[in-house]
Amino acid sequence: MERFLLGTNWKMHKTFPEAVAYTERLKILVQQYPQCQFFIIPPSLYLRELAERLKGGQILLGAQNMHWREEGDYTGEISPAWLEACGVAVAELGHSERRQAYNENDVDLNRKVHAAFRHNMIPLLCVGESAQDKEYGVTAEKLRMQLKIGLFGVNPEQSSRLWIAYEPVWAIGPSGIPAEAAYVQAVHQMIRSMLLEQFGESGRRIPILYGGSVNPENCVSLAVCSEVNGLFIGRSAWDLEKWMLILERLHMAGVLEG
Ligand code: 13P
Repeated sequence: MERFLLGTNWKMHKTFPEAVAYTERLKILVQQYPQCQFFIIPPSLYLRELAERLKGGQILLGAQNMHWREEGDYTGEISPAWLEACGVAVAELGHSERRQAYNENDVDLNRKVHAAFRHNMIPLLCVGESAQDKEYGVTAEKLRMQLKIGLFGVNPEQSSRLWIAYEPVWAIGPSGIPAEAAYVQAVHQMIRSMLLEQFGESGRRIPILYGGSVNPENCVSLAVCSEVNGLFIGRSAWDLEKWMLILERLHMAGVLEG
């Protein structure tokens, strides 16, 4: 597996000056951790400026969403071609907030995954079950649907440029309940076997990140789980002090050494 992946989705947070100040500080802080692949996913309005500031550096830049078409009459949408042109490396697709609040479905997400490949971006496909799915015992079915439809038509060669984030809906955000490490490990192992089914041996190399209420207290127990190849963090990474504490703890635990 590649370097451990560590990234943050800012959602709809941070003013422009805050975004710039955060990015400039992060550029310096990450120099201590060359064994880690960092990425930040800011609001799309900031991408152009932040791409300039991150050019040639250690941190990949991501977008929180995009359309699958290059252009057209789609008010309010963002073209994958624009993202590619401004240096965006990662396309975050299907975050549960977008699936829930904006009705994103697996078929459209599959179009977006292919658009990301066409525009030389890494699709970061987010999957995860709701509290209700979990209660009914259909977590595996839900994940299989999201992966099989979301990744339909992706070939093994493309799969080497694909990241998956497992983010249980019930664990995300201020009202989220942090998941137990044993549960996360079991689901990551299940996702790995689904990826092997779908892509053969190439499925072994697809990084699976975990996200949902990751914090300085639980980061090590989650990161050491088998098949957890990275962490995808919201609130605890918006504050750089907290993110650095997470990094220090992962480093001390030897997680970043692979
Ligand atoms: P929190 O870490 O704030 O729960 O958010 C996780 C997330 O949604 C990452 O995409």
